[in-house]
Amino acid sequence: MSTQQALQNILQSKYPIVQAGMVWCSGWKLAAASCNAGIFGVIGAGSMYPEILDEHLEKMSKNVSTPFAVNLPLLYPSIHEHIDLILRHKVPVVITSAGSPKKFTKQLQESGIKVIHVVSSVLHAQKAASAGVDAIVAEGVEAGGHNGRDEISTFVLTPSVRDAVQIPVIAAGGIRNGRGIAAALALGADGVQIGSRFVLSEESSAHAAFKNELLRSKEGDTILTLKELAPVRLLKNKFFQDILDAYAQGADKEALAQLLGKGRAKRGMFEGDLIEGELEIGQVAAYMDTILPVEQIVQSLINEFSATKEKITNLPSWT
Ligand SMILES: Cc1cc2nc3c(=O)[nH]c(=O)nc-3n(C[C@H](O)[C@H](O)[C@H](O)COP(=O)(O)O)c2cc1C
Repeated sequence: MSTQQALQNILQSKYPIVQAGMVWCSGWKLAAASCNAGIFGVIGAGSMYPEILDEHLEKMSKNVSTPFAVNLPLLYPSIHEHIDLILRHKVPVVITSAGSPKKFTKQLQESGIKVIHVVSSVLHAQKAASAGVDAIVAEGVEAGGHNGRDEISTFVLTPSVRDAVQIPVIAAGGIRNGRGIAAALALGADGVQIGSRFVLSEESSAHAAFKNELLRSKEGDTILTLKELAPVRLLKNKFFQDILDAYAQGADKEALAQLLGKGRAKRGMFEGDLIEGELEIGQVAAYMDTILPVEQIVQSLINEFSATKEKITNLPSWT
């Protein structure tokens, strides 16, 4: 079976496009709208207490009849309660990130759940494949949110991961239109995962002030920072300037952790505090100028992908 077919068997969506799991942005509304638009919806559990995840899973089952996933960053304290909920709700797919794929893959698969793991290097892709995951998300440094220390771009990472593993590969990071999707498939990916573009959808739970700030953002406004803690791509704001000042004063890991404190991501992305909040977003933010319903975003992705495919067949022959 081809890896494309294997991915289709996992996602079972019309298009092999995954709407990324994103803290504070991807609740059931975004995930349901994605599934209903023909792509693969994902609930981001990283910002949810167990009782909140429970509610979102209830709503998802009432509004969607196709498979979907829960994104589970493995470093969260209530992870075992999340796993119990996922098993109880019979969630079809889990996308794990930020931790060892050895931890829960077997347990989930024994309950009939497919497991996809997010990596940012070839080495970690090989480790995930050895742990038996069903597919990999290869996420380049352009991506919003937490990121790899090695800062490998999607253009470099995707073909290298493709060559290194035999399981389906989903490219992520810096994809915002149909040309990006066609490029990712040309690089060897079987599908794509898109995050930042869907932050700017009507259905995302990002605060309106955050969405509007993204519309105003320009080239160079996102930077990968806090590499001593967990590298994260942020939109520049006063909090980001505080990080720079702390670095200039020689802040160590502990001082940075203290500066970050708790709850900054919620404050920025969910509550709309553009000054003190942490604003996670990918490089593509600079080039996005519309907030649209998911259905329209998906339609334009598909239309542009088809137009790009036409163009590619007209590429000059160099033989
Ligand atoms: C606001 C935001 C929050 C994110 N939160 C998570 C998360 O909780 N877990 C995770 O695995 N990835 C997270 N990511 C990364 C996405 O899942 C996805 O891989 C990434 O957004 C793809 O790159 P793009 O933003 O260029 O489309 C987040 C990304 C953004 C923009």
